[in-house]
Amino acid sequence: MTRALPDELLKLPHRTDVPFSKLTTLGVGGNCRWLFEPTTEEEAQIFVRACVREDLPYRVLGGGSNLVILGDIEIPVLRLRFPAELQREGLKLKAPASFGHIRMAQGAASEGLGGMEYASGIPGTTGGALRMNAGAYGTELVDILDTFRFLNLDGEIVEKRPDPGEFKYRWSFLTAGYVGLSFTVKLAEGHRETIAAKVAENMGKRGSSQPLSKRNAGCIFKNPPGQSAGRLIDQCGLKGFRVGDAEVSPEHANFLINHGHATALEFAELMNTVRAKVSDVFGIELEPEVEIWP
Ligand code: EPU
Repeated sequence: MTRALPDELLKLPHRTDVPFSKLTTLGVGGNCRWLFEPTTEEEAQIFVRACVREDLPYRVLGGGSNLVILGDIEIPVLRLRFPAELQREGLKLKAPASFGHIRMAQGAASEGLGGMEYASGIPGTTGGALRMNAGAYGTELVDILDTFRFLNLDGEIVEKRPDPGEFKYRWSFLTAGYVGLSFTVKLAEGHRETIAAKVAENMGKRGSSQPLSKRNAGCIFKNPPGQSAGRLIDQCGLKGFRVGDAEVSPEHANFLINHGHATALEFAELMNTVRAKVSDVFGIELEPEVEIWP
């Protein structure tokens, strides 16, 4: 981008030219020209307001665990770096959006609060979980969500309870431009040992069916209604299919893994091949579950 950024933005904590391989779990992608890392809600608000005023598009990055980056990003990228602390009030637990999602599930367990065990294997930040309405084993975030706080498209801070239609399967209305700031979940009193056992069981289940030791971005495609994307890709015989260092995981076909040196182009080609094959064989158009930039 040739355009100069306003001083107001440049005064915020930021870095330049950070490779996306260091910002995403998949480890592919190009260069992040501008990475803004506010440490307070006020700084995040200054960022959004300045971008809105200058008509400057921007993107919001969380833990980078559900993201496939296929090139350089020249527009400002926002990544929150709020102080990492959980707040408990009775049966409610609140986390800032930059808090680790798995850490939050573990925090709930160690407080003896039940209801968040499903989340114990879902990587990324709580902000990413809110944005995607993350879920596993039949439970999703909106089921336990009490209130959430975000910056709207005008850079105003809003705090509210979820309304019907605002959260669906792997989707929330907090799409491009919105910035999740924090949320509070409502949990139930439980036995520490029982909750910890469920957390361990969920992590174990995931570890045994998903290639967690390889660089990955979680499930790449959404499950079509009543179907499993992983099973469809598997039935096309694509497990182990490889483009360069990018491969359809032999363990779980809806995971594409990076063997170390995969490029963005290789990933794009692999994703296209998988979609085309599933479309040919089953007549089903798979939709990405991951975000794809640019
Ligand atoms: N299957 C195959 N071959 C494969 C993969 C799966 O035949 O290569 C079959 C399994 O045997 C099973 C069925 O497909 O009968 C479903 O598989 P699994 O239980 O692994 O669940 P999934 O539908 O593939 C979903 C979520 C996961 C989440 C698990 C556990 C989506 C797209 N995926 O996977 O979420 O961890 O359930 O709850 O909704 C993610 O969001 O990134 C993610 C990985």
